[in-house]
Amino acid sequence: MFFGNSLPFNPEQDIPSLAGKVILVTGANIGLGKQCVLEYARHQPSLIWLAARTLDKAQTAADEIRQQLEVKNTPTIKPLAMDLSSLSSVTTAARTVVAESSRLDILMLNAGIMAAPPGLTSDGYELQFGTNYIGHALFTKLLLPILEKTAATIPDADVRIVSLSSHGHVYAPKEGVLFDTLRTDAESLGAYGRYGQSKLAIILWTRQMARKYPQFTLASIHPGVVRTNLMNNATGSPWVIRLLGMVANKVVTPVDQGVKNQLWASVARDVKSGEYYEPVGIGGATDAEGRGRCAGCEGVGMDGEGAAGV
Ligand SMILES: NC(=O)c1ccc[n+]([C@@H]2O[C@H](COP(=O)([O-])OP(=O)(O)OC[C@H]3O[C@@H](n4cnc5c(N)ncnc54)[C@H](OP(=O)(O)O)[C@@H]3O)[C@@H](O)[C@H]2O)c1
Repeated sequence: MFFGNSLPFNPEQDIPSLAGKVILVTGANIGLGKQCVLEYARHQPSLIWLAARTLDKAQTAADEIRQQLEVKNTPTIKPLAMDLSSLSSVTTAARTVVAESSRLDILMLNAGIMAAPPGLTSDGYELQFGTNYIGHALFTKLLLPILEKTAATIPDADVRIVSLSSHGHVYAPKEGVLFDTLRTDAESLGAYGRYGQSKLAIILWTRQMARKYPQFTLASIHPGVVRTNLMNNATGSPWVIRLLGMVANKVVTPVDQGVKNQLWASVARDVKSGEYYEPVGIGGATDAEGRGRCAGCEGVGMDGEGAAGV
């Protein structure tokens, strides 16, 4: 979960020139997503789409990032409204991107919620699964025409799709994704069982997409345990775990370090398409069914309330 055996990665030096590229980051108004946009912007892509739940949030974040940039030629940062818990909002956002971009080189599926109370998306899916997985899977599907066009027509194209999974995928039900829970609030799975199920789905989807689309490089990653808003919003978590999480949040990895794995996966040459990386650049942390290393958590899947690895 921490970075002891990570590959070294320094965004300033190791992100190559992004000249000409178009990048899109979801959940980019705060936390890891916002840091990603800042790091990319320092390497001069032609356009970054900054997606957030509302246009106001996206616009505010874009303005703040521009103020932090020292570069003379600040790239265009376009705010994009997308609520991942609404498939109509996802569809509208994807249509905007397809209509207004001629290419898409890096798609960073970063947004997420953890340990939310039981609930449903506006389309009736379990809230964490619908937000973390279904919204992003639909978004990617609708962006395929532009991703495929980029891969096919841009010389030396290097199309990447990076998804934020989590070490927390080990808290998924031990049978894997329970399909008959997905149209319910899945209360019996517990807040971390639901989170784990959504993050396991991301790992398995990434593998399958890599097989289906060999012209892209896909990866799913765990960023480490990073000091962001994620734990503050984990209001479905048992109070003891929330309290511990909030205390731990003071000492865990800062966001400028925690962002490294997803940035690495989006630019490094030696990324193996379909792989799950935990921590920076280290693959093989989970088996073919997505059963990750989880010392002592055997059997906690169905009712797992652990928060150790978010
Ligand atoms: N931090 C960690 O230790 C850790 C560990 C493992 C995995 N991760 C993963 O890393 C990713 C980024 O999280 P973070 O740590 O940076 O947390 P964060 O600061 O809470 O950021 C999460 C982002 O997702 C957005 N989001 C949530 N629900 C959304 C929705 N319905 N529609 C659109 N956007 C939505 C949030 O928007 P609002 O501001 O509007 O809520 C926010 O921009 C998540 O996928 C998380 O699961 C984080």
